[in-house]
Amino acid sequence: MSKRRPLVAGNWKMNGTRAEAAALVDGIKNGVSSASKAEVAVCPPFILVPLVAERLAGSAVVWGGQNLSVHKSGAYTGEVSGPMLKDYACTYAIVGHSERRTYYGEDDNLVAEKFAAAQSHGLVPILCIGETLAERERGQTEQVVARQLDAVLEKSGISALGSAVIAYEPVWAIGTGKTATPEQAQAVHKFIRDKLAKLDRHIAEGVRILYGGSMKGSNAKELIGQPDIDGGLIGGASLQAEEFLTICRAAD
Ligand code: 13P
Repeated sequence: MSKRRPLVAGNWKMNGTRAEAAALVDGIKNGVSSASKAEVAVCPPFILVPLVAERLAGSAVVWGGQNLSVHKSGAYTGEVSGPMLKDYACTYAIVGHSERRTYYGEDDNLVAEKFAAAQSHGLVPILCIGETLAERERGQTEQVVARQLDAVLEKSGISALGSAVIAYEPVWAIGTGKTATPEQAQAVHKFIRDKLAKLDRHIAEGVRILYGGSMKGSNAKELIGQPDIDGGLIGGASLQAEEFLTICRAAD
């Protein structure tokens, strides 16, 4: 396993009542010790961030938002800004999730702006990139992830990757139960790291690249055991404390 500290981040997507969120974070918190090697994070829907922040304060688990506005305040109905997330002590902000790209029209440039906005407000962006099934079948996986990365590199520069996390999430593996094989995932993770290494070897070696897409307790160890896979961004399996904790232990 690599020398980078593994990160296991739960992306709850649009799930959870207050009662469900409270039970879930309490279950996670009780299962994660401050001695654990892996860092553990949860990213609830915005409306649950205050509840999660209150219950996790002082614990070994950190939290973040699933998205953020590029603006810091003003007449942007329905949006939530970086300073608002920071006000609730968020560590992370997910940017460029494939569901944002697909359903809400977020293109590479907007994602790059969100990445920069997160960093400018002291949040660590978790930049999601990944190809669709059609793109993979056309042999375009590397081209797509390179393009998605380039938008961020052009706007923020390679040094910005020194305080960011990348999540490789093949769209065809998200919520489908179809996980990329450890070999498939490792190949793309290595491609990403090699691409960054051409710009700055030190940054490339330090940046954590998470895998996301139907990761669960039963496949986490093999995936995270790959040399360039530094943890996971977990959707469905992050909604059950025990399943999520199994992944956290696999990363430890
Ligand atoms: P699933 O784990 O449900 O496939 O979701 C992955 C994901 O999109 C995490 O951001």
